[in-house]
Amino acid sequence: MLVGTATADDAAVYKLDDGRAIVQTVDLITPIVDDPYVYGQIAAANSLSDVYAMGGRPLFALSIVCFPSRTVGLDCLADILRGGSSKAQEAGIAIVGGHSVEDQEPKYGLVVTGIVDPDRILTNAGARPGDVLVLTKPIGAGILTTALKKQQLSDEAYGRVVEVMTTLNRAAAEALEGLEVHALTDVTGFGLLGHLAEMVTASGVGARIDFGAVPVLPEAAELVAQGIYPGGTKRNLDHFGPKVQWPDELPEPKRLLLADAQTSGGLLISLAARDQDTLLQRLPSAEVIGEIQPDPAGVIQIVP
Ligand code: CO
Ligand code: CO
Repeated sequence: MLVGTATADDAAVYKLDDGRAIVQTVDLITPIVDDPYVYGQIAAANSLSDVYAMGGRPLFALSIVCFPSRTVGLDCLADILRGGSSKAQEAGIAIVGGHSVEDQEPKYGLVVTGIVDPDRILTNAGARPGDVLVLTKPIGAGILTTALKKQQLSDEAYGRVVEVMTTLNRAAAEALEGLEVHALTDVTGFGLLGHLAEMVTASGVGARIDFGAVPVLPEAAELVAQGIYPGGTKRNLDHFGPKVQWPDELPEPKRLLLADAQTSGGLLISLAARDQDTLLQRLPSAEVIGEIQPDPAGVIQIVP
């Protein structure tokens, strides 16, 4: 076993031989949009992400489905599965089976098996002082999908958050080819703060984040200031907040924004500073949001 539970990593990694290791992950989510096809796309992109977040390449997937087939038409389930298949196809893999269970609330996701060169595994551990921290998608999806449920989201912001959540992290992962990446994860349920906290803890380093450099989805800042955010976001802030040195003037809503629970968020990359320009050229959507510091270990410093 090359990667197990010790470093709070994205997926398990099991060595087959000197050149190959299996990357294994499972993830499933409840619906966060009304459109079943789009929900299937988001769930599949979210499940595939953990393979990319280990530096791996997906090989094939199985679907895992919970569905209220007695009360909701099976054409709805077919749309969810079609959405998932479209993303698997985009990732270059097939969904070759799966399992379903009768359940009152739908849930859908993939078991994804991938492969990685054991010498090129990218875990949470390994971030080095002087590395730049790069984020490949804007944050705020949890806030926006909560606003959607309350019918307080504009069509424009809905379109943007769907675009972000359905985007595979494949291109972002491929843009790292040949670059000196020291640590890698994806930003999901624990939010940017939580996943960065896992990275700095596993790596024995600290981090500095420039608040103004963090890309944020449209309307997220306004909505969170109005008190619209998921329960998981507040729990993230309560749990990981004590690991953060906050500037006094940074108000609670902005802190919640950094802790916002994401679905199918971007990659968080700890990259040797000399490779920064190459990565930004290859991946214009990526943003440098801060850097790794030698100490205090496990602590995230936010600068306004
Ligand atoms: Co992950
Ligand atoms: Co996961």
